Amino acid sequence: MGARNVVVLAAGKGTRMRSRRPKVLHRIAGRSLIERVLSSSAAIEPRMTTVVLGHMAEEIKQTVGARPSLTFALQEPQLGTAHALQQTDSHFADKTGSVVVLSGDVPRLRPATLLSLVEHHEQTAAACTMLTTTLDRPYGYGRVIRSQGELVGVVEEADATAEQRKIREINGGIYVFELEPLFKALAQIPEAGPKHERYLPAIIPLYRQQGLIATTFPATDSDEIRGINSQTELAEVSGMVRRAKNEELMGSGVTIENPATTYVDDDVRVGADTVIHPGVMLEGQTTVGERCELHSGVRVVDSAIGDDVTIRNHCIVTESSLGSGTVIGPFAHLRPGSKLETNTRVGNFVELKKTTLGEGSKANHLSYLGDATVGRNVNIGAGTITCNYDGREKHETCLEDGVFIGSGSQLVAPITVGRDGYVAAGSCITEDVPADALAITRGRQTTKTGWVVGRKGDGE
Ligand code: UD1
Ligand code: CA
Repeated sequence: MGARNVVVLAAGKGTRMRSRRPKVLHRIAGRSLIERVLSSSAAIEPRMTTVVLGHMAEEIKQTVGARPSLTFALQEPQLGTAHALQQTDSHFADKTGSVVVLSGDVPRLRPATLLSLVEHHEQTAAACTMLTTTLDRPYGYGRVIRSQGELVGVVEEADATAEQRKIREINGGIYVFELEPLFKALAQIPEAGPKHERYLPAIIPLYRQQGLIATTFPATDSDEIRGINSQTELAEVSGMVRRAKNEELMGSGVTIENPATTYVDDDVRVGADTVIHPGVMLEGQTTVGERCELHSGVRVVDSAIGDDVTIRNHCIVTESSLGSGTVIGPFAHLRPGSKLETNTRVGNFVELKKTTLGEGSKANHLSYLGDATVGRNVNIGAGTITCNYDGREKHETCLEDGVFIGSGSQLVAPITVGRDGYVAAGSCITEDVPADALAITRGRQTTKTGWVVGRKGDGE
């Protein structure tokens, strides 16, 4: 058994997507198609992976990023899948071992399926093994043509006769080739179809003429090799990915009230006995603990939620952490860098940015806390604002343990309120408040007794 290599074909424009974004950069549950294909291909431990790029190559390179033993080949112009594979010729110095060819637009292939395909190929003398499946609605795919059960070729939808279109066995667009005869044969593939492209499956009849074996390997789960050519197919496959993720979570003891409206990205982890209400989105690298309650309209991105946390309706939490027993919302906005220690409360219309709330602290109503470090058991009154920006720079606010901030106060940063300090309601604090002190900056109230009555008398 020689070394395994991978080539991902991703140069096509994806015309049928009707989008400026290259097809393989469209996302399913937060991850681009190309990233999905690359991560499932890791299962076969390739010696080298080459991505063939063309349309918007730079954008795709940036998304994929540098990875060990990953190289790129350029196909310009794009003259079909055989022509695309040909562009990797110079990447294979010695033509030993095999290459697995993947389509950048077939994102659900499971690593285990790929591994069985490759292992099957390695146990036979085939020069080419093509992954196939059977679909109830084979429209759009290349149909597998057999003669007396033996593979003789593939006919594309556009070139198929009415009779051939009835064939339900399709080409999955995923192949294993022995490198040795491959590139010589690719050079011999003629143009075909309405767009004069050079089709990769046309290698099958060529191999047969040369006495080489080309065979198939069936994928048992046809959903895995669904290709994406249109926005409708993108949505369909997204739905499959989401359903599978929800089922995985429910299988581990998470309650999902309405899976149809619950959007959970692949890498998200949720603990048992957490209840997810309809219309919740959990994205990116998010973890949610056990026994949490996530109400409708909640969106959590790249955040860590502890155990026994309640997130009430319509909260947005991004790049933040919530300690166990915390309750937030409804309508709270936790922007990046917010850290709520255990048993904190953040109420309605409260916005936090780069702010830590110590254990047991509360900001229950209508506040903005930015660049603030808040100690334990601090009470932040309704309508408190940290004035953290002076028009040029951001400054920090520090509220030590036990502080009480009265409602409607402004804290002009940089500012510190010492341990157990008090700020009277309606104050604008511009100087540090020492521990145990009360700071008050209100104007004094004048009350004019009977003033209203006198005024009425004036008018008559
Ligand atoms: C292809 C197969 C078809 C198969 C289907 C499975 C061919 C001719 N047809 O059809 O038999 O059933 O996949 O999904 O191979 N690409 C390039 N350069 C090109 C053309 C395409 O890199 O010049 C890339 C695309 O970016 C894409 C992949 O190859 O990732 C497949 O191309 P696409 O045009 O989607 O082929 P299909 O019509 O789906
Ligand atoms: Ca396709």
